[in-house]
Amino acid sequence: MDLKAQYATIKKEILTAVAEVLESQQCIGGPKVAELEEKIAEISDCKFAVGVSSGTDAILNSLMSLDIGAGDEVITTPFTFFATAGCIARVGAKPVFVDINPRTFNINSALIEPAVTEKTKAIMPVHLFGQMADMDPIMKVANEYELSVIEDAAQSITSTYKGRNAGSIGTVGCFSFFPSKNLGGIGDGGMIVTNDEKLYNRLFIMRNHGSNPKYYHKYIGGNFRLDPIQAAALLVKLPHLDKWTQARCRNAAYYDKKFAGTAVKTPYISPDCVTIYNQYVIRVPRRDEVVAHLKENNIGCEIYYPVPLHLQECFKYLGYKEGDLPESEKATKEVLALPIYPELTDKMKNYAAETILSFLG
Ligand SMILES: Cc1ncc(COP(=O)(O)O)c(C=O)c1O
Repeated sequence: MDLKAQYATIKKEILTAVAEVLESQQCIGGPKVAELEEKIAEISDCKFAVGVSSGTDAILNSLMSLDIGAGDEVITTPFTFFATAGCIARVGAKPVFVDINPRTFNINSALIEPAVTEKTKAIMPVHLFGQMADMDPIMKVANEYELSVIEDAAQSITSTYKGRNAGSIGTVGCFSFFPSKNLGGIGDGGMIVTNDEKLYNRLFIMRNHGSNPKYYHKYIGGNFRLDPIQAAALLVKLPHLDKWTQARCRNAAYYDKKFAGTAVKTPYISPDCVTIYNQYVIRVPRRDEVVAHLKENNIGCEIYYPVPLHLQECFKYLGYKEGDLPESEKATKEVLALPIYPELTDKMKNYAAETILSFLG
């Protein structure tokens, strides 16, 4: 991703907004954070939002505020960024991995119910690459077994499933403002959205060490606060979000057309979903050779993700072995993310696509 290309288009406004925060010396919290919370709640079709320090802390705070901890199990996908399952383990709970739907790369909702035990407290679907997971069957299982649903929507702000917004279907939704996201800050940041007022109050208190009033700690929380400088920059970027997402979608359509009828498998988007294409992830034969070839030709690309979480060294204690979750394992060997950022030109897309196609022959 070329972050400088985007920055060049909004540099003046960003500098002004950051200077405003500095001049005010409102260095923690304040009106910028509150304004961003209000706006993110609105675009997510949720009643409440809590700004936090990162997408990771959005997930961590959600788990802590739902009192999920030692002895509990949380069902999730192994084909995601580490933070999803890392946070489950950090609160002392056990990540229970179920395999993915190979078409969408999202959790296979049909495999969730068989994984439910008496210890299951929550399901954490991840809306990967910009496309939401199959939420109806997930909510059906959650309702039947009285489980919380934490939507890891880090990659999917404003994405929809059957017309409903990412983050608005489960108990809570977690967003990341990591700079490469569709709405990316100038550093780390995140947001939690919910329609549950009681939970909102808890999330709000937990982000400030669980204190309310100040210095009286009803809960053990953390410092999960969103930096007002990040909030100010995000408020500058927010009005551009739809336009940037549309540009990503146009880039995806361009690649789709270039790769039609070739050995390259383009992303499958469910008719239930509108994706925001945070990533454009293809499956390609001889993937590692293609990566090397692209790098030789100065084309940025990335493998999301090279190792499924159930086979990560730190999760050895969970007892998974190779072959346990075959679709996730297969995906890690075949996927390749191509440049999709909004400022990408047709020439660059054409060069990336042609370089792959000529290599594959
Ligand atoms: C699926 C997923 N979950 C969680 C996170 C964590 O977000 P952050 O990097 O803001 O902590 C990310 C971000 O990279 C992500 O892609």
